[in-house]
Amino acid sequence: MNDWVKGEIVAKRQWAEGLYSLQFDAPINPFYAGQYIKVALDVVGERIGRPYSLANPPHERPLEIFFNEVNGGSLTASLSALQVGDALWVTADAGGIFTLETVQPAENLWLLATGTGLGVYLSILRTSAPWERFQRVILVHGVRQVADLAYQTLLAALQQQHGERLQVLTAVSREAHPNALSGRITALLSSGQLETAAGATLTPADSHVMLCGNSAMIKDAKVILEARGLTRHRRHTPGHYTTEHYH
Ligand SMILES: Cc1cc2nc3c(=O)[nH]c(=O)nc-3n(C[C@H](O)[C@H](O)[C@H](O)COP(=O)(O)OP(=O)(O)OC[C@H]3O[C@@H](n4cnc5c(N)ncnc54)[C@H](O)[C@@H]3O)c2cc1C
Ligand SMILES: NC(=O)c1ccc[n+]([C@@H]2O[C@H](COP(=O)([O-])OP(=O)(O)OC[C@H]3O[C@@H](n4cnc5c(N)ncnc54)[C@H](OP(=O)(O)O)[C@@H]3O)[C@@H](O)[C@H]2O)c1
Repeated sequence: MNDWVKGEIVAKRQWAEGLYSLQFDAPINPFYAGQYIKVALDVVGERIGRPYSLANPPHERPLEIFFNEVNGGSLTASLSALQVGDALWVTADAGGIFTLETVQPAENLWLLATGTGLGVYLSILRTSAPWERFQRVILVHGVRQVADLAYQTLLAALQQQHGERLQVLTAVSREAHPNALSGRITALLSSGQLETAAGATLTPADSHVMLCGNSAMIKDAKVILEARGLTRHRRHTPGHYTTEHYH
């Protein structure tokens, strides 16, 4: 059983209504970019824990999670009320295989996220793995509203650092924005608009795709990718896409 260790909030940021990042110190064991820990609070005498991807890269502290408040959710209402100096519980060992460790090198790495699914890529992008294994990285963040486009400063800094090797695309589904694609990631993938905007192709020969966030998006995206000949990547059976469902 994974042990709980105590953490302390060192910073909090609210990006939009119900959308937060928390940074905290806690003595967890080494982890790989793309892994998650469980975060827990004692709510009316009961410890309620849920998994959250680590948004910080493994070599940087504090630890960080990016999450949204879920209406009627057991943990997130309490999690979003935490303030600097408050305590929380986390698992000492991170888990999960949504990492680049077993992925075969290719020309393009496509990182597709809806909502808070962006967080896991902020960790991966700040490690050497994507830049050693892929010529280009295309990050696509799909959100409902422009206000949900968090971490723009960090993404701009990463773009500055990696130049033409990193393309950051945003897709807003419920309002128009001049600097974002319009609609769902899946519709933009089907229509070819995503590839046009990225200036890259998405085929089994040249791409690996990571999908993170809303499970309906992942389900729909899988159908589109498999119709193009991409197969699911497993630890012992290399394929072309990997997934992480948040909800
Ligand atoms: C491997 C893994 C990593 C995860 N990483 C993150 C992360 O980095 N950031 C993050 O925000 N969440 C993440 N999640 C989701 C997170 O663990 C919780 O499920 C979520 O925060 C809701 O917790 P809750 O206790 O408030 O709601 P619950 O009481 O657990 O859920 C209430 C209901 O809301 C649904 N639900 C859960 N999450 C959402 C959501 N985001 N939007 C709409 N409905 C939802 C549930 O399916 C359930 O029906 C991850 C989940 C997994 C499995
Ligand atoms: N104030 C608050 O408490 C607050 C604030 C924000 C969010 N929330 C909660 O957080 C939850 C998550 O909201 P979110 O906006 O972060 O995430 P989300 O509902 O997953 O939406 C993010 C993006 O994914 C798209 N999407 C949804 N289903 C898809 C599918 N099958 N294929 C492709 N794309 C799909 C959405 O498009 P569409 O627009 O077309 O659906 C949107 O562009 C909400 O259900 C809500 O409970 C609460």
